[in-house]
Amino acid sequence: MLIAGNWKMYKTLTETVALIDDLLLEIPQDNVTVDIVICPSFTALKTATDKLSNTILRVGAQNMHWKKEGAFTGEISAGMLRDIYCRYVILGHSERRQHFGETNEIVNKKAHAAIQASLRPIVCVGETLDEREHKDFKKIIHTQVIESLAGLGPEQLAEVAVAYEPVWAIGTGKVASPAQAQEIHHLIREVLREMHPGSKKGHKGGARASSVAEKIRILYGGSVKPANAKEILQQPDIDGVLVGGASLDPRAFGEIVKAAL
Ligand code: PGA
Repeated sequence: MLIAGNWKMYKTLTETVALIDDLLLEIPQDNVTVDIVICPSFTALKTATDKLSNTILRVGAQNMHWKKEGAFTGEISAGMLRDIYCRYVILGHSERRQHFGETNEIVNKKAHAAIQASLRPIVCVGETLDEREHKDFKKIIHTQVIESLAGLGPEQLAEVAVAYEPVWAIGTGKVASPAQAQEIHHLIREVLREMHPGSKKGHKGGARASSVAEKIRILYGGSVKPANAKEILQQPDIDGVLVGGASLDPRAFGEIVKAAL
Protein backbone atom coordinates (compact mmCIF):
# COMPACT_ATOMS: atom_id res chain seq x y z
CA MET A 1 0.00 0.00 0.00
CA LEU A 2 1.02 3.58 -0.61
CA ILE A 3 -0.63 6.47 1.22
CA ALA A 4 0.36 9.82 -0.26
CA GLY A 5 -0.58 13.34 0.79
CA ASN A 6 -0.71 16.07 -1.84
CA TRP A 7 -0.42 19.39 -0.02
CA LYS A 8 -0.90 21.40 -3.22
CA MET A 9 -0.11 25.14 -2.88
CA TYR A 10 -0.72 25.23 0.85
CA LYS A 11 1.58 25.77 3.84
CA THR A 12 4.53 28.08 4.27
CA LEU A 13 7.81 26.72 5.54
CA THR A 14 6.90 27.48 9.16
CA GLU A 15 3.51 25.86 8.72
CA THR A 16 5.12 22.83 7.08
CA VAL A 17 7.40 22.30 10.07
CA ALA A 18 4.42 22.50 12.42
CA LEU A 19 2.33 20.13 10.30
CA ILE A 20 5.14 17.57 10.12
CA ASP A 21 5.56 17.71 13.91
CA ASP A 22 1.83 17.10 14.34
CA LEU A 23 1.82 14.32 11.75
CA LEU A 24 4.62 12.49 13.50
CA LEU A 25 2.46 12.36 16.62
CA GLU A 26 -0.44 10.86 14.66
CA ILE A 27 1.37 8.30 12.52
CA PRO A 28 2.62 5.14 14.18
CA GLN A 29 6.35 4.65 13.58
CA ASP A 30 6.65 0.94 14.38
CA ASN A 31 5.40 -2.08 12.48
CA VAL A 32 4.10 0.06 9.67
CA THR A 33 3.65 -2.03 6.58
CA VAL A 34 2.57 0.73 4.22
CA ASP A 35 4.59 3.40 2.43
CA ILE A 36 3.68 6.93 3.50
CA VAL A 37 4.62 9.97 1.46
CA ILE A 38 3.93 13.67 1.90
CA CYS A 39 4.25 16.12 -0.97
CA PRO A 40 4.73 19.68 0.32
CA SER A 41 5.52 22.71 -1.83
CA PHE A 42 8.96 23.16 -3.40
CA THR A 43 10.10 25.72 -0.83
CA ALA A 44 9.53 23.25 2.02
CA LEU A 45 10.91 20.07 0.43
CA LYS A 46 14.46 20.28 1.76
CA THR A 47 13.28 21.03 5.29
CA ALA A 48 10.79 18.15 5.02
CA THR A 49 13.41 15.61 3.91
CA ASP A 50 15.78 16.80 6.69
CA LYS A 51 13.08 16.51 9.34
CA LEU A 52 11.86 13.13 8.16
CA SER A 53 15.20 11.48 7.44
CA ASN A 54 15.01 9.13 10.45
CA THR A 55 11.32 8.36 10.16
CA ILE A 56 9.21 6.10 8.00
CA LEU A 57 7.73 9.04 6.11
CA ARG A 58 9.04 9.82 2.65
CA VAL A 59 8.86 13.06 0.73
CA GLY A 60 7.64 13.72 -2.79
CA ALA A 61 7.41 16.75 -5.04
CA GLN A 62 4.25 17.79 -6.87
CA ASN A 63 5.82 18.43 -10.27
CA MET A 64 9.15 18.65 -12.12
CA HIS A 65 10.58 19.39 -15.56
CA TRP A 66 11.69 16.59 -17.87
CA LYS A 67 15.06 18.05 -18.86
CA LYS A 68 18.17 17.47 -16.76
CA GLU A 69 19.07 21.17 -16.80
CA GLY A 70 18.94 24.15 -19.08
CA ALA A 71 17.41 27.50 -19.81
CA PHE A 72 13.96 26.74 -18.40
CA THR A 73 13.24 29.65 -16.09
CA GLY A 74 11.16 28.69 -13.11
CA GLU A 75 11.50 24.93 -13.52
CA ILE A 76 13.01 22.24 -11.30
CA SER A 77 14.64 19.03 -12.51
CA ALA A 78 14.34 15.46 -11.26
CA GLY A 79 18.04 15.52 -10.33
CA MET A 80 17.48 18.59 -8.15
CA LEU A 81 14.68 16.77 -6.31
CA ARG A 82 16.77 13.64 -5.85
CA ASP A 83 19.65 15.79 -4.61
CA ILE A 84 17.56 16.88 -1.61
CA TYR A 85 16.39 13.27 -1.00
CA CYS A 86 12.93 13.39 -2.48
CA ARG A 87 11.86 9.86 -3.36
CA TYR A 88 8.61 10.46 -5.22
CA VAL A 89 7.08 12.97 -7.60
CA ILE A 90 3.43 13.48 -8.55
CA LEU A 91 3.11 13.82 -12.34
CA GLY A 92 0.18 14.90 -14.49
CA HIS A 93 -2.17 15.83 -11.67
CA SER A 94 -5.46 17.01 -13.17
CA GLU A 95 -4.80 20.53 -11.87
CA ARG A 96 -1.58 20.59 -13.93
CA ARG A 97 -3.39 19.16 -16.95
CA GLN A 98 -6.23 21.67 -16.54
CA HIS A 99 -4.38 24.89 -15.63
CA PHE A 100 -0.91 24.38 -17.08
CA GLY A 101 -1.63 22.53 -20.29
CA GLU A 102 0.08 19.26 -19.40
CA THR A 103 -0.60 16.56 -21.94
CA ASN A 104 -0.02 12.82 -21.82
CA GLU A 105 3.08 13.41 -23.92
CA ILE A 106 4.54 15.84 -21.39
CA VAL A 107 3.66 13.53 -18.52
CA ASN A 108 5.40 10.72 -20.37
CA LYS A 109 8.62 12.74 -20.80
CA LYS A 110 8.51 13.58 -17.11
CA ALA A 111 7.93 9.94 -16.12
CA HIS A 112 11.01 8.86 -18.09
CA ALA A 113 13.12 11.65 -16.56
CA ALA A 114 11.92 10.85 -13.03
CA ILE A 115 12.81 7.18 -13.33
CA GLN A 116 16.16 8.04 -14.88
CA ALA A 117 16.87 10.07 -11.72
CA SER A 118 15.63 7.28 -9.38
CA LEU A 119 12.48 9.14 -8.40
CA ARG A 120 9.26 7.18 -8.21
CA PRO A 121 6.53 8.86 -10.25
CA ILE A 122 2.92 8.93 -9.11
CA VAL A 123 1.22 9.36 -12.48
CA CYS A 124 -2.31 10.76 -12.29
CA VAL A 125 -5.14 9.96 -14.68
CA GLY A 126 -8.88 10.51 -14.49
CA GLU A 127 -11.93 11.80 -16.32
CA THR A 128 -13.80 15.09 -15.94
CA LEU A 129 -17.51 15.13 -15.14
CA ASP A 130 -18.28 16.06 -18.75
CA GLU A 131 -16.22 13.12 -19.98
CA ARG A 132 -17.95 10.72 -17.58
CA GLU A 133 -21.40 11.90 -18.57
CA HIS A 134 -21.02 12.53 -22.29
CA LYS A 135 -17.99 10.71 -23.63
CA ASP A 136 -16.37 7.31 -23.73
CA PHE A 137 -14.50 8.07 -20.52
CA LYS A 138 -13.07 4.59 -20.19
CA LYS A 139 -11.37 5.04 -23.55
CA ILE A 140 -10.02 8.39 -22.34
CA ILE A 141 -8.49 6.74 -19.26
CA HIS A 142 -7.13 3.93 -21.40
CA THR A 143 -5.37 6.49 -23.62
CA GLN A 144 -4.09 8.48 -20.63
CA VAL A 145 -2.48 5.36 -19.17
CA ILE A 146 -0.98 4.11 -22.45
CA GLU A 147 0.37 7.50 -23.53
CA SER A 148 1.59 8.67 -20.12
CA LEU A 149 3.54 5.45 -19.54
CA ALA A 150 4.65 4.78 -23.13
CA GLY A 151 8.13 3.38 -23.62
CA LEU A 152 8.73 2.36 -20.01
CA GLY A 153 10.10 -1.16 -19.70
CA PRO A 154 8.75 -3.61 -17.12
CA GLU A 155 11.38 -2.78 -14.50
CA GLN A 156 10.82 0.94 -14.92
CA LEU A 157 7.05 0.53 -14.78
CA ALA A 158 7.34 -1.36 -11.52
CA GLU A 159 8.66 1.90 -9.97
CA VAL A 160 5.54 3.80 -11.02
CA ALA A 161 2.33 4.27 -9.09
CA VAL A 162 -0.74 5.21 -11.10
CA ALA A 163 -3.29 7.41 -9.33
CA TYR A 164 -6.85 7.28 -10.59
CA GLU A 165 -8.40 10.60 -9.66
CA PRO A 166 -11.81 11.36 -11.19
CA VAL A 167 -11.65 15.13 -11.63
CA TRP A 168 -15.25 15.51 -10.44
CA ALA A 169 -14.26 13.97 -7.10
CA ILE A 170 -11.23 16.19 -6.39
CA GLY A 171 -11.86 18.72 -3.64
CA THR A 172 -15.61 18.45 -4.14
CA GLY A 173 -16.54 16.07 -1.34
CA LYS A 174 -18.05 13.81 -4.03
CA VAL A 175 -16.18 10.58 -3.69
CA ALA A 176 -16.43 7.86 -6.31
CA SER A 177 -18.22 4.89 -4.78
CA PRO A 178 -15.86 2.02 -3.92
CA ALA A 179 -17.47 0.01 -6.74
CA GLN A 180 -17.00 2.85 -9.26
CA ALA A 181 -13.36 3.22 -8.23
CA GLN A 182 -12.73 -0.54 -8.31
CA GLU A 183 -14.18 -0.78 -11.82
CA ILE A 184 -11.71 1.78 -13.16
CA HIS A 185 -8.78 0.41 -11.16
CA HIS A 186 -9.47 -2.99 -12.68
CA LEU A 187 -9.57 -1.41 -16.12
CA ILE A 188 -6.23 0.34 -15.49
CA ARG A 189 -4.66 -2.95 -14.41
CA GLU A 190 -5.96 -4.54 -17.62
CA VAL A 191 -4.36 -1.75 -19.64
CA LEU A 192 -1.06 -2.34 -17.82
CA ARG A 193 -1.36 -6.04 -18.58
CA GLU A 194 -1.92 -5.19 -22.24
CA MET A 195 1.25 -3.09 -22.18
CA HIS A 196 3.30 -5.84 -20.52
CA PRO A 197 1.57 -9.20 -20.62
CA GLY A 198 2.64 -11.64 -17.94
CA SER A 199 1.08 -13.85 -15.31
CA LYS A 200 -2.65 -13.24 -14.98
CA LYS A 201 -3.09 -14.25 -11.40
CA GLY A 202 -1.83 -13.26 -8.06
CA HIS A 203 -2.55 -9.61 -7.35
CA LYS A 204 -2.22 -8.71 -3.67
CA GLY A 205 0.07 -11.52 -2.66
CA GLY A 206 -1.04 -14.38 -4.86
CA ALA A 207 1.53 -17.02 -5.67
CA ARG A 208 2.26 -15.95 -9.23
CA ALA A 209 2.39 -12.22 -8.76
CA SER A 210 5.03 -11.77 -11.39
CA SER A 211 3.79 -9.41 -14.05
CA VAL A 212 4.24 -5.67 -13.84
CA ALA A 213 0.49 -5.17 -13.81
CA GLU A 214 0.27 -7.09 -10.55
CA LYS A 215 3.19 -5.27 -8.96
CA ILE A 216 2.28 -1.73 -9.86
CA ARG A 217 0.37 0.27 -7.28
CA ILE A 218 -2.85 1.90 -8.38
CA LEU A 219 -4.00 4.62 -5.98
CA TYR A 220 -7.41 6.21 -5.72
CA GLY A 221 -7.69 9.97 -5.21
CA GLY A 222 -10.63 12.34 -4.84
CA SER A 223 -12.20 13.36 -1.52
CA VAL A 224 -10.61 10.54 0.46
CA LYS A 225 -11.40 11.04 4.16
CA PRO A 226 -11.07 8.92 7.30
CA ALA A 227 -14.75 7.99 6.94
CA ASN A 228 -14.41 6.44 3.47
CA ALA A 229 -10.75 5.33 3.40
CA LYS A 230 -11.22 1.83 4.77
CA GLU A 231 -13.89 0.80 2.30
CA ILE A 232 -11.94 2.25 -0.61
CA LEU A 233 -8.74 0.49 0.46
CA GLN A 234 -10.53 -2.84 0.75
CA GLN A 235 -11.20 -2.99 -2.99
CA PRO A 236 -9.10 -5.66 -4.68
CA ASP A 237 -7.41 -3.37 -7.21
CA ILE A 238 -6.90 -0.36 -4.92
CA ASP A 239 -3.37 -0.29 -3.54
CA GLY A 240 -3.39 3.04 -1.78
CA VAL A 241 -4.75 6.57 -1.86
CA LEU A 242 -3.62 10.03 -2.94
CA VAL A 243 -5.12 12.44 -0.44
CA GLY A 244 -5.50 16.21 -0.98
CA GLY A 245 -7.55 18.21 1.52
CA ALA A 246 -7.50 15.63 4.33
CA SER A 247 -3.70 15.37 4.17
CA LEU A 248 -3.47 18.90 5.60
CA ASP A 249 -5.21 17.72 8.76
CA PRO A 250 -2.74 15.60 10.73
CA ARG A 251 -5.39 13.67 12.60
CA ALA A 252 -7.35 12.88 9.43
CA PHE A 253 -4.22 11.81 7.54
CA GLY A 254 -3.17 9.67 10.50
CA GLU A 255 -6.59 8.00 10.48
CA ILE A 256 -6.30 7.29 6.76
CA VAL A 257 -2.87 5.72 7.31
CA LYS A 258 -4.31 3.58 10.10
CA ALA A 259 -7.13 2.47 7.79
CA ALA A 260 -4.46 0.99 5.51
CA LEU A 261 -2.71 -1.01 8.26
P1 PGA B 1 -8.86 15.87 -2.51
O1 PGA B 1 -7.67 15.99 -3.59
O2 PGA B 1 -8.49 14.72 -1.58
O3 PGA B 1 -8.83 17.20 -1.79
O4 PGA B 1 -10.10 15.63 -3.26
C1 PGA B 1 -7.06 14.85 -4.15
C2 PGA B 1 -5.96 15.28 -5.09
O5 PGA B 1 -6.11 16.31 -5.77
O6 PGA B 1 -4.92 14.60 -5.19
